[in-house]
Amino acid sequence: MKFFVDTANLDQIREAQDLGVLDGVTTNPSLMAKEGIKGKDAILKHYIDICNIVDGDVSAEVLSTEYADMIKEGEELAALHPQIVVKVPATKDGIKAVKYLSGKDIKTNCTLVFSAGQALLAAKAGATYVSPFIGRLDDTSTDGIALIAQIVEMFNYYDFETQVLAASIRHTMHIIQCVEAGADVATCPLHAIEGLLKHPLTDLGLAQFAKDTQKMS
Ligand code: E4P
Repeated sequence: MKFFVDTANLDQIREAQDLGVLDGVTTNPSLMAKEGIKGKDAILKHYIDICNIVDGDVSAEVLSTEYADMIKEGEELAALHPQIVVKVPATKDGIKAVKYLSGKDIKTNCTLVFSAGQALLAAKAGATYVSPFIGRLDDTSTDGIALIAQIVEMFNYYDFETQVLAASIRHTMHIIQCVEAGADVATCPLHAIEGLLKHPLTDLGLAQFAKDTQKMS
């Protein structure tokens, strides 16, 4: 399973990259706004900065909601850097934009996916990734992981090449559940990735080894 870090914070992206297991980055307008990025030039520069830190795919979301504007914006984003993946919402205009952009060999990430039907249309339109939002579904008493499993099964059954990018991951256990469900990618906050390393027995074992190391000197 690939690991993307879900942030627009350059320090966190560097930290995740330094860990040596990072495969890409996802951003969205809320994450960009959180970093205080304002205005078109600053937005485009920020995406290039991210691409210069990591080796893999970097999702950059269109801000437009109408088809004609989405494809114009998508082409502009894709021209920024070969690592850019154009992120488009799972709406009627969005699906049309995915179809258009994938026809131009531009990588796409169909986002704000909350149902198998949306994922099906995104895959048929040729999306590189679909992003089902686990945490936001869990917030509404709906099983987000069950949707990941359902989409994985559907894509396997029909041999769709579209990758299931589990998004809206809130904590470490979500990552493990994504592995069990067969997601291709998990995009995670840095703390959720780092949580994979946490184990009290590792800490205890290390403390004991440190004590015993002293006995050897
Ligand atoms: C990433 O592609 C999504 O935009 C992101 O994971 C959404 O996460 P949130 O539901 O925690 O805002």
